Amino acid sequence: MTSWELEALFGSLSRLPDVEADNLQAHDATDRLLLETAGGLVGPETEIVVIGDRYGALTLGALVGLGVEHVRVNQDLSTGRRALQRNAATAGLEGRYIEHELGRELLEGASLILLQLPKSLAELEEIADAVARFAPPHAVLLGGGRVKHMSVGMNAVLEKYFSTLQPQLARQKSRVLVAKNPQPVAGPAPFPMVQSLPELGLTVQAHGAVFSGARLDIGTRYLLTFLDRMPPSQKTVDLGCGTGILAAMYARRNPMARVIATDQSAAAVASARGTAAANGLGEQITVLHDDAMSTLDAGSADLILLNPPFHVGTSVHAGAALKMFEAAARVLAPGGELWTVYNSHLQYRAALERLIGPTVEEGRNPKFTVTRSRKGWASSKTTV
Ligand SMILES: C[S@@+](CC[C@H](N)C(=O)[O-])C[C@H]1O[C@@H](n2cnc3c(N)ncnc32)[C@H](O)[C@@H]1O
Repeated sequence: MTSWELEALFGSLSRLPDVEADNLQAHDATDRLLLETAGGLVGPETEIVVIGDRYGALTLGALVGLGVEHVRVNQDLSTGRRALQRNAATAGLEGRYIEHELGRELLEGASLILLQLPKSLAELEEIADAVARFAPPHAVLLGGGRVKHMSVGMNAVLEKYFSTLQPQLARQKSRVLVAKNPQPVAGPAPFPMVQSLPELGLTVQAHGAVFSGARLDIGTRYLLTFLDRMPPSQKTVDLGCGTGILAAMYARRNPMARVIATDQSAAAVASARGTAAANGLGEQITVLHDDAMSTLDAGSADLILLNPPFHVGTSVHAGAALKMFEAAARVLAPGGELWTVYNSHLQYRAALERLIGPTVEEGRNPKFTVTRSRKGWASSKTTV
């Protein structure tokens, strides 16, 4: 592949339906470096697996540039899966990749695995374990990342599962770790973790990539103290459900309620399904892999529970929470309520008033605020 072809492909990529902005691209230097490193290792028989592709740069780059007919792909985020579909259609490469969840079907027979290194070590461990467990002994894993996001902890995780680890020289602030000779693994997989939370009387399942692992987040803990003030709704959504603790606790308290737990992360979805089943709530809770409830009908929920993604800093990250509020405004029926917990300094109340409707502060502790926003009341002028 010429660099011109790669640049043309990268130039055609879009992040949609993820947030777009002038300073955000659908590819990065790590994609380039991974493809270049892979170029020296591929032959006609190479079976390529791509894990953690953001928007399709790696998958489509491998199809265009590495001379392979098909690629197997695993992506955690539903937005990433949809972006890959769109970008593959634009590039005329639909049907040339197959999506799998992390597991045997993805990895059996794989000889070269291209990985955008994940943020959390737990997620990396789940991936490394799956590769060692299901890929053949000759499989080589190339894990790439931005140097500023890489840590020696990543090397330690990979060294636990591969007997050879060769960190490559950094280029354009990215680096590739080459992991070879996966070690045979015996015994049960380390994920999902299963943990009982005695303070809630709940068993929680957590895959590596899920928010807060199997622990109870302190914001979620605070929101749960308001359970008895929440209305007994028939149609409730746990938006951004993570391991599904909010869905499970609400369902248990309201046995007549049907609860949809939904998250953009496949790891969260699998975890929430596991949590629901482990607590005998599998009939009451339906779990959906979706971006901001995009597949739910407008006006179809009476109650939405939300602990939105919290990120320090950039406006784009604040956009992740605002996107959830906008989605709640669409999916709530008139009179329906959104209950939200957030770090008090974020001052989301004005946005909640504007996007959903009258918003009251139900409680505040030294760190968090819990609000209730009702859709369909006359709009209030009050802002905070
Ligand atoms: C702060 S965590 C809360 C998790 C869980 N509700 C809890 O209380 O432990 C936020 C969750 O929102 C999910 N999320 C972020 N953006 C999303 C989106 N656009 N659509 C669906 N889920 C999203 C994340 O994957 C994450 O699991």
